[in-house]
Amino acid sequence: MSKTALVTGASSGIGRAIAIRLAREDYKIIVHYNSNLKGAEKTLSEVSKISKHAHHLLQFDSSNYEQVETALKDIEVDVLINNAGFHKDAPALLMDNASFQKVIETNLYGAFYLSKLCGKKMLLKRAGSIVNIASLAGQTGNPGQANYAASKAGLIALTKTMAMELGSRGIRVNAVAPGFIETEMITEVPGLEAMKKRIPLGRFGTANEVAGTVAFLVSEDAGYITGHTVSVNGGLFPT
Ligand SMILES: NC(=O)c1ccc[n+]([C@@H]2O[C@H](COP(=O)([O-])OP(=O)(O)OC[C@H]3O[C@@H](n4cnc5c(N)ncnc54)[C@H](OP(=O)(O)O)[C@@H]3O)[C@@H](O)[C@H]2O)c1
Repeated sequence: MSKTALVTGASSGIGRAIAIRLAREDYKIIVHYNSNLKGAEKTLSEVSKISKHAHHLLQFDSSNYEQVETALKDIEVDVLINNAGFHKDAPALLMDNASFQKVIETNLYGAFYLSKLCGKKMLLKRAGSIVNIASLAGQTGNPGQANYAASKAGLIALTKTMAMELGSRGIRVNAVAPGFIETEMITEVPGLEAMKKRIPLGRFGTANEVAGTVAFLVSEDAGYITGHTVSVNGGLFPT
């Protein structure tokens, strides 16, 4: 029987690439989005071309526990990819409290809510795999991104802790920390061309390269890997 994967933030960028890649691995895909219905429908159409499983859309704001809980009520997944995230940058001393809070709530609380609600159902089956999409910023810090970097560092700690708690129940929890990946998200990052010169592999990464790493982590080939954060960053600031 085919397995089900929920990919949050699958209406664009890395999330869409992960959804498509996991569809190729024969997963039934739940395509999550928040505001971009058109983008989510495009992802759904792409995954539906790959297999005839009953893929479907799911909407919620990951920072809102009630919305997440209601949306997940009748949903059981084998694989959860916590990819939804956003950034709102400013120097820490000038950052308003609402921006700090919203980024942490979306990127970190959201992943916690989903992992808790999906994890409880995985527990009953004594099987499951969770992958959290963190960031290089969470490993190194990044000027102008105190909120974002803190949310992603928190995600890495959440990954390690939940891996320790759930390993004995057959559930693996890992993270992927992308560096600079060519998506909409990085188009506003200042000094991009200068940054490219500092990347040992001399280029930005692709969403497909992140998706391939996720596919490996949820596969049986990674069956003895848990609590790990895989850097996909072209060799920038190796960790
Ligand atoms: N691109 C990079 O270089 C890079 C590097 C490191 C880490 N990452 C991480 O990779 C993940 C995907 O990034 P991306 O580059 O693919 O960005 P993206 O194209 O902007 O996609 C972000 C996704 O997150 C969803 N999202 C945003 N706020 C949400 C909320 N409040 N509730 C639920 N979903 C929400 C968006 O949904 P809607 O559009 O439907 O609202 C969208 O599907 C993020 O976690 C990001 O931090 C990206």
